Amino acid sequence: MNIEKIRADFPLLKKTGVIYFDNAATSLKPQCVLDKMTEYYTEYGANIHRGAHKLSVRASQEYERAHRIAAKFFGTKESEIIMAFNTTHALNLVSYGIDWKTGNNIVSSCIEHHSNLLPWMYAAKKNNLEHKIVESDLEGNFDLEKWQETIDNKTQLVSITAASNVLGCMPPVKEIGKIAHDAGALFMVDCAAAAGHIPLNFKKIGADFAAVAGHKAFGPTGTGILYASEDLVKKEVIMPAYLGGGTVSDASCHDYTLAHSPDRFEAGTPNIAGVIGLGVALEYISKIGVDNIRKHDIEMMSHTFKRFGEILSLEYYGPRIPEKKVGLVTFNIKGMDAHDVALLLDETANVATRSGHHCAYPLMKFLGVDGNVRASYHAYNTTEEVDVMCDALEKIARAV
Ligand SMILES: Cc1ncc(COP(=O)(O)O)c(C=O)c1O
Repeated sequence: MNIEKIRADFPLLKKTGVIYFDNAATSLKPQCVLDKMTEYYTEYGANIHRGAHKLSVRASQEYERAHRIAAKFFGTKESEIIMAFNTTHALNLVSYGIDWKTGNNIVSSCIEHHSNLLPWMYAAKKNNLEHKIVESDLEGNFDLEKWQETIDNKTQLVSITAASNVLGCMPPVKEIGKIAHDAGALFMVDCAAAAGHIPLNFKKIGADFAAVAGHKAFGPTGTGILYASEDLVKKEVIMPAYLGGGTVSDASCHDYTLAHSPDRFEAGTPNIAGVIGLGVALEYISKIGVDNIRKHDIEMMSHTFKRFGEILSLEYYGPRIPEKKVGLVTFNIKGMDAHDVALLLDETANVATRSGHHCAYPLMKFLGVDGNVRASYHAYNTTEEVDVMCDALEKIARAV
């Protein structure tokens, strides 16, 4: 993997000189994605599936092409890729699209992002279901027996993250999915922090539904993906949460016939430029190779741990084995507020990190902290940049 060449593809890096370690919030965008979006707006910027004129036809073709690219990327059929506005939207499309049965339960875990907790809590409250939580240890390791004990024949859905945005750990999704399916439950995977960092094939994982953040995978903001298995769509296990333009194949004043997937789930004018840009972003990742990004994440984590070990007042969270993590780490300097640390990193070393609760209040409570600082890496980051961050952290820690 040629990091210098990759860095040259990201204009923001050159323009700002920033050390961008906030990739788990949203990644930077390569020039090819920006160019593709400009191409849409300047050459064929019409609406899709609504016009016979050539601009609309071209826009529709490019939009559909993005679905095909995503399907290839995640090992699914094209009709199983539903374009959403972010991961949260994709998860909510499932929580609002399922016919929940009173008395059933929904199972998720203590390490989830709010987006993979609150939609289930809400669905449970509204429909009188139980929302059950499986706990991990403090590093995010799960005991599969706990999943076995918690999931039962009343479990309607199990939803788990493929990678924690705080601990960086990667739960055994395939095994958890098998337990869910053996009990007759649906299985959903939140891939926000995983897509583009670890190889993901939704069929091989055994997911019924999966949510992806396009914007964390070099795609434009306002892009995400919901994968919904064709079989479950056909059986109407999941129905559209929204209806309107583009979702039906016929309608009278009193009735309608739903269009096929993905159209039935993509109501109204979508983020056309964004989706087209996302297609190019996924192609760009494929060219680098997800396996290469995975190797790079491991190298970045090895170096981070080596340097972190030299800073005595640093507390850090999640597994300490690089292979057990995606490329992110959260930490605190003893006696300092996480936001102050992040501000000092920004001001003294031009290092952009994220600080706070990372939309994971339950996990913060479980870890016994109010918040922490997160450094999250992507393909353009270097070990030299980790050194700059760690040198700055050493200075900050000495000043406490
Ligand atoms: C694990 C995880 N799930 C869900 C989300 C929500 O993603 P989005 O901002 O795309 O809705 C995030 C974002 O940080 C995340 O890291």
